Amino acid sequence: MIRSLTIRNWKAFADKHITFSEGITFFVGQNGVGKTTLLDAICLCVTGKSPTADFQELVRDSKQPAEVRLELDANGNRFSIMRKFRRDRKLACEVVLDGRSRGMGWDELTSTALDFLAVDDMFFNRLTYMSEGEVFRYLQEPPGEALNARVKEIFGIASLQTLKGFTEGIIRDVSSSIRDISSELKTIRTKKPADDSQIKAMEETLAKLKEKEKKSYEERDALTKQIGEINGERKNCEGLMELLAEIAEKYGPEIAKTSRASIDDAVQEAIKDLDSDVSSEEENLRKSEVSLGSVQNRINYLRDIETLLQSVVADATKKAEVLCPVCKRPVDKPLADRLIRETKQQIMGAEKEFREIQDTSKTLQDKINSLMQKARKLREYGTRLNTIPKVILGRVKPLAIERVNLLLSSIEASLKEKSEAEKSKALELEVTRKEIEQKTRDHAELKAELTQADRLKLLKNRLHSYYERQMLAEMLTGVLESALQEQKDKNLAHAYRWISELWEKFRPESRWKIVLDEKGVIRVTSEEREYDFAHLSGGEKTVLLVLTRVILCRLLSTKIDFLMIDEPLEHLDIRNRRSLLNFLVSACRKNIIPQMLVTTFEETLIRKYYEGEKTNVELLA
Ligand SMILES: Nc1ncnc2c1ncn2[C@@H]1O[C@H](COP(=O)(O)OP(=O)(O)OP(=O)(O)O)[C@@H](O)[C@H]1O
Ligand SMILES: [Mg+2]
Repeated sequence: MIRSLTIRNWKAFADKHITFSEGITFFVGQNGVGKTTLLDAICLCVTGKSPTADFQELVRDSKQPAEVRLELDANGNRFSIMRKFRRDRKLACEVVLDGRSRGMGWDELTSTALDFLAVDDMFFNRLTYMSEGEVFRYLQEPPGEALNARVKEIFGIASLQTLKGFTEGIIRDVSSSIRDISSELKTIRTKKPADDSQIKAMEETLAKLKEKEKKSYEERDALTKQIGEINGERKNCEGLMELLAEIAEKYGPEIAKTSRASIDDAVQEAIKDLDSDVSSEEENLRKSEVSLGSVQNRINYLRDIETLLQSVVADATKKAEVLCPVCKRPVDKPLADRLIRETKQQIMGAEKEFREIQDTSKTLQDKINSLMQKARKLREYGTRLNTIPKVILGRVKPLAIERVNLLLSSIEASLKEKSEAEKSKALELEVTRKEIEQKTRDHAELKAELTQADRLKLLKNRLHSYYERQMLAEMLTGVLESALQEQKDKNLAHAYRWISELWEKFRPESRWKIVLDEKGVIRVTSEEREYDFAHLSGGEKTVLLVLTRVILCRLLSTKIDFLMIDEPLEHLDIRNRRSLLNFLVSACRKNIIPQMLVTTFEETLIRKYYEGEKTNVELLA
């Protein structure tokens, strides 16, 4: 039962507190005073929604929070609900039960409140609160299947049917899975499965083989590296050999002249010898050039004398006596002529000597050049010898062609040996690799056998559980089917019978009898004749609807003991108004519904006929 309601800053009220009594309470007042607001606020408290509009839009002052608070009793417990919100957000929700207050979320509060009243929100919105719009809608809605569908929903028959459809679906799915598993089971070979220890042993062997393979790879790589190194040595050695052969071929004589056993030393000594030959020949050349200078001087001197003598001859023809420019004695022309002849002969002799010395110098120069060329070439060989790695040179000390030859053959021998070893390592590796491949295949096969055994076990288990599910679903479907039948037979028939009985009782003056068949189709009869539902007036339909509500509420709810009807008297003529009011007031007085909240603006009618036991009038202004 509803005990009190507080509304702050919401819809028609800035601040309103109202307490409720047992029996029927009529809220009367002019349009817009807030009659509907009261019922909507109760609905908002319980279901978290307003049936007519978005409740947040109905906040009056957007700067202030709105609040609705409802206090009610059910089964002897006091329960209080509070919701606070603004236009743009929800603020807080609170429940007080047995004096203990607890904050919770908006939706959590809704389910707590509905649990407390033992109804769902569909029941609350369809049966407990008959809002203004709903009364009007009902008048326009055809009866029969529509009514039946509602009653089914209210009884939960529809959900029972949905549930039955669901369990039938489960049966279909499970049966098809059972078929699939059975056919897969047939295809799996039944073989004795491998045990774990076999697989473990196989894995150990495999690990060892892989270790061996790794080692073989390392050894083979080391051999390949060694072969590479020896090949390098061989190349160097061959280079050395070639160089030595070239030196021997071209400079054999120079080398042979030295007393050295080692070719490199011999080369160095030959270079030294050549250098000293060059020095001595250069000395000769220098001497020859000196003589060339002195011969040239002599020639110059003789030419000067000849010139002087010529001038003496010229002077002697003019004068009787001329002095010799060299000996300062008197010289006559015949003497002078003889002296000139002699001087010319001397000049010719000196010039011949000059040419001879010149030839000697040229020969010397050529010789020096050729010696230097040889020395240069030998130096080049020396440099090339230095490019041969020390390790090689160290192994052929003292350096000689035969020794290099020996080294070369020993290198060839070790190369051959290492290549053989490498080949046999590769062979060994191939064998290990093949063995690993085989063992890996064996391992995979053993594992597959094991997996197949697992799969077999799994499929059997699954099949077992599917059979169980199938059995359960079949049982559940059976139970649901009989529950459905029972609900239909019992509740619907019972409810429909009661509706027609009540119709008789509360509207004895009516010429119509109302019978609802098992499908919920309303049959209207009068004097043994059947009429269409449309024969009922709008008012009669409203009365029938309210009647149906009251009965269904009484039949279906255990804890919820109040009913809220907004403007049920609209559309009714005065006779029907009174008749419906009679029904509602006596339903309350007879405790069919212990508490009813009804809004109306028919104040005069209410005050005239319906004040008294369990009847209250609340005037809103
Ligand atoms: N957000 C709001 N801010 C201020 N007033 C509002 C707001 N929402 C609704 N109202 C007022 O509330 C009143 C409507 O309240 P309500 O529907 O409860 O009246 P009523 O008594 O049921 O009227 P009727 O007899 O016409 O059904 C109107 O006067 C409307 O102006
Ligand atoms: Mg109203």
